[in-house]
Amino acid sequence: MTQYVLQAEDVAIHYGGVKAVDGVSLTLTKGQIRGLIGPNGAGKSTVIDAITGRSRLTRGQISLNGEDVSALGVVERRMRGLSRSFQRTSIFGQMPVRKQVELASHKMGVKDSQADADDVLQELDLWPMRDTLADDLGYGEQRRLDLALALVGRPSVLLLDEPMAGLSVKESLDLAQHLKALTSRWEVSVLLVEHDMDVVFGISDEVTVFELGRVIASGSPAAVRADTRVREAYLGSSA
Ligand SMILES: Nc1ncnc2c1ncn2[C@@H]1O[C@H](COP(=O)(O)OP(=O)(O)O)[C@@H](O)[C@H]1O
Ligand SMILES: [Mg+2]
Repeated sequence: MTQYVLQAEDVAIHYGGVKAVDGVSLTLTKGQIRGLIGPNGAGKSTVIDAITGRSRLTRGQISLNGEDVSALGVVERRMRGLSRSFQRTSIFGQMPVRKQVELASHKMGVKDSQADADDVLQELDLWPMRDTLADDLGYGEQRRLDLALALVGRPSVLLLDEPMAGLSVKESLDLAQHLKALTSRWEVSVLLVEHDMDVVFGISDEVTVFELGRVIASGSPAAVRADTRVREAYLGSSA
């Protein structure tokens, strides 16, 4: 039996009559990248909120490393290795990079938070900017700092909601390479919601496609790209 790092089973989130997510199942194995795509309003962000514990499940179950965490809150899940990155909301502009990563690590209860922070900074090539104020970083570097803050305490699962938004092609590729390296070196599993199809199909081991709160296709990038329903629903006939 495969031991999934993350397993979402028959997850539903309904807001009154709106079935934002309606019976979604997906898994992550160790070090796997799963791309999650679909039109606006398909339920991608909602499913991330469901997995992190930010939104209450209408139905279904979330398991982390074999443990049912459905009844646990956001912080308890984070402490068990389920992390997400936010877009810049977590950055203190007037604090040096190293200090804020260390602070995040300390807040996580990591014993040697300095070593933890320094590992993360080195892994994401932020070490040369360790004394720079976040406000003085370039945009691409700020996004790497978002990622750094999500990586303190060595999470096993990383959930990313459009991490490439607003980045140049070069910055996106750079971030994608860092993600790929993280999955092999740190064996982090990644659920990647992203509009940039080149990135998604380029770095994902598997791709899942949502439409109207449901999974309409899931499989290897090549299989999903070739799926008639996906092409009609999302990629357009020219894809
Ligand atoms: N708090 C909420 N209350 C009511 N409807 C919501 C709420 N959050 C999301 N929705 C609805 O759920 C659907 C899925 O939204 P979302 O998960 O943000 O889609 P995506 O991230 O794929 O663009 C949309 O129809 C959206 O309007
Ligand atoms: Mg969204």
